Amino acid sequence: QIVHLENYRPTDFVLERVDLTFELDPQETKVEARMIFHRREGVSPSAPLVLDGDELVMTGLLLDQEAIPGTLYEATDDTLIIRELPERAPFEITVTTVLSPETNTKLMGLYRTSNVYCTQCEAEGFRRITYFPDRPDVLAVYTVNIIADKAAAPLLLSNGNYLGGADMGDGRHFASWFDPHPKPSYLFALVAGDLGVVEDTFTTVSGGNVALKIYVEHGKEPRATYAMDALKRSMKWDEDVFGREYDLDIFMIVAVSDFNMGAMENKGLNVFNDKYVLADPETATDADYANIEAIIAHEYFHNWTGNRITCRDWFQLCLKEGLTVYRDHEFSADMRSRAVKRIAEVRHLKSEQFPEDAGPLAHPVRPTQYREINNFYTTTVYEKGSEVTRMIATILGRDLFKKGMDLYFERHDGQAVTIEDFVACFEAASGRDLKQFSLWYHQAGTPLVTASGVYNTAGQTYTLSLEQTVPPTPGQSSKAPMHIPLRFGLLLPDGSEATPTAVSGAEISGDVLHLTERKQSVTFSGVPAQPVPSFNRDFSAPINLHVVQSAGDRALIARFETDLFARWQALNTMALDNLVKAAAQTRAGRPVACDDALVDALLAAAADNRLEPAFRAQVLSLPSETDIGREIGGSNDPDAIHTGRQAVLTAIATAGKDSFARLVHEMSQSGPFRPDAESAGRRALRYSGLFYLVYADGQPGKAADAFRSANNMTDLSQALTLLAHRFPDAEETAEALAAFKERFANNALVIDKWFAIQATIPGAATLDRVRGLMSDPLFNANNPNRVRSLVGTFAFANATGFNRVDGEGYRFLARQILDIDARNPQLAARILTSMRSWGSLEEVRASHARSALEEIARASSLSADVSDIVDRMLEDK
Ligand code: ARG
Ligand code: ZN
Repeated sequence: QIVHLENYRPTDFVLERVDLTFELDPQETKVEARMIFHRREGVSPSAPLVLDGDELVMTGLLLDQEAIPGTLYEATDDTLIIRELPERAPFEITVTTVLSPETNTKLMGLYRTSNVYCTQCEAEGFRRITYFPDRPDVLAVYTVNIIADKAAAPLLLSNGNYLGGADMGDGRHFASWFDPHPKPSYLFALVAGDLGVVEDTFTTVSGGNVALKIYVEHGKEPRATYAMDALKRSMKWDEDVFGREYDLDIFMIVAVSDFNMGAMENKGLNVFNDKYVLADPETATDADYANIEAIIAHEYFHNWTGNRITCRDWFQLCLKEGLTVYRDHEFSADMRSRAVKRIAEVRHLKSEQFPEDAGPLAHPVRPTQYREINNFYTTTVYEKGSEVTRMIATILGRDLFKKGMDLYFERHDGQAVTIEDFVACFEAASGRDLKQFSLWYHQAGTPLVTASGVYNTAGQTYTLSLEQTVPPTPGQSSKAPMHIPLRFGLLLPDGSEATPTAVSGAEISGDVLHLTERKQSVTFSGVPAQPVPSFNRDFSAPINLHVVQSAGDRALIARFETDLFARWQALNTMALDNLVKAAAQTRAGRPVACDDALVDALLAAAADNRLEPAFRAQVLSLPSETDIGREIGGSNDPDAIHTGRQAVLTAIATAGKDSFARLVHEMSQSGPFRPDAESAGRRALRYSGLFYLVYADGQPGKAADAFRSANNMTDLSQALTLLAHRFPDAEETAEALAAFKERFANNALVIDKWFAIQATIPGAATLDRVRGLMSDPLFNANNPNRVRSLVGTFAFANATGFNRVDGEGYRFLARQILDIDARNPQLAARILTSMRSWGSLEEVRASHARSALEEIARASSLSADVSDIVDRMLEDK
């Protein structure tokens, strides 16, 4: 059941058009699919038509409206094969199926959520609706007719433009939709139910009028206005920056509360996890607002990168996802602070993608095989895929990158294409050979670049020795050297930047050094003094970097770099060195020493009013326990990492008490809440100050006060987190948790936060708390957001609680995975990836982890999703 890229071939039959009719019913929805096909030129007249299916009940099958005799077809659970079809003329196949949306707990295909009918078809959900050539290279024009009870489903939506509808006189009504743009089945959507709406309009650059509608549960309309604003800004930005205009009369978004992923870009009818639509100051944090803005943009941008130009096959997923993430990153950078946005992206990449790339689930951005495609919606395909696109822009420069994108849209509009097609556009636009660069799509693993420099005083030359290695990953034992675009600067002792008179040994364009060999030595002439090299400005390449640098060198970069990202990186690396040392000291039973140089550098940056507050908050937010574990790289003891980190935090807090008190004071805001980036930055820096003050005190008082005086969800949830994580057993904490629960009991998204905050309380005792919370009346094992907020957050984000040395955390997770898998395999498989770094734990924990994985692997009736993950995690370990 492994699918290989090399086996790709086009279908034998071309699908011309599709007419779908749905008669909606919670348990017995009738679907009629009429499909016009013709045999592709050159295909053998005896070749049968093979359609995909998944758990389908078929009640009728016609060829040109005549029943097909049983001898001429074969229907199994996952295919329908029809023989002896016309050799030349187009023909019509009509398939009738009966579905039960209400009992569809996989949330793939047609399902029900809070009495609303809704679909999720990417990647292979359409085959759960009818037998169909369910693959992305089959593009067809769809007409959709929806019939439903008028009272239960006054709203009947599908892709494209509304054709019309009418009352049927029997309590039912119908609506018809036509989508003129040929599309693959994964972009099909249907929504029906009783929902409220927020409406607006957008006029495109060439004067087209687009109706905008965001559908939410009745009463939640006011919480959708920020999403609407983000949508209009996205539409405008895509016109301005990428020259992309919207192409239908209407654009709709529907928010649902049961959804496996973040959102889905169905043509003209995006379906969203309501977590990424609903926001108001009382219930949403600044992070929620930023996520909504980014995801609304992401799905909208898919209209061109994904929908108008789609993927030939699922191996090409990064063609749409990597590119679209890059586009949403650029959008957010333009809407907010570019440097702060970049820091957040890199933090996310390092904490999520780097571990994936360093563990048993590592795979190339463009994989060549898969067992279960749902398991390839990964941070490697999305985030590393975005970084690869960004590197193309870095190598080509802004203008040629734009030229390449324009060519891509011009050449491939209306097609299903490959990564090779995409890269060829940039080669054609720039005349540059990107063959070696393309290894980024094909070689898994995070490259490691090591660098050291020698200064020659007499000759005023500086020579850098650079070396790259790409670690082995599953299925790829040896790797070729990559083309790594490294942005850099040589800082002189006075903080200015050296401007060498000549360079040999590497191509350098602007501040980009092109590292292309395994070992490369680069000499700069006319360097007046021993410089401090600052590498990977703006994180120009997704690599690990080892440079031997003193705290003084890093402090110089932190003070004088013109690239703000590089400044942050220098401080963050300085902190990371300290935290790694602190973990080792803790493990050895020695006291933890925190370097004065670190404390000085952090406090200097924190107090520097020339820097924006959000940036200073990023500086004060130290590397996470996961970051420290990754840096240590093996035999990790999460307890030592945690204890060492706490000691460093306390040392910084104690040394900087007065500055932190000043920050809290200076960053206070009055007036109504505003969700913009600047106000959010001030809240973030104020919270950093509060955080360290509470650490300095060792008492919950200030956090409890902050909880009581908060007038927005950002401040409130941060105060609650601080209380719960730092003082889990304090009376103040118990009171705050109870008050929070009572106040927000009716708001699912806020209650998710209540579960998540408790699931991440450090320490071995949290497992019992999590078990207790599973029997809280507010826990709901059928709602993906709720399961993720408790079980997922515990496994992904609670290093000490989950990695209990007795292995109970892993055994708990194993049972949860089996339980979830029976209902929702996709959700189970996703949460199980929390164990992807088990091989870098110290041996006692690692052996418990392995037994838990083996327990899952042994279970009978595992889904393909979970068995794919568990098998890969146990392979050659
Ligand atoms: N294409 C969606 C997005 O990134 C993700 C949908 C993935 N769904 C799935 N079932 N694998 O915007
Ligand atoms: Zn996407």
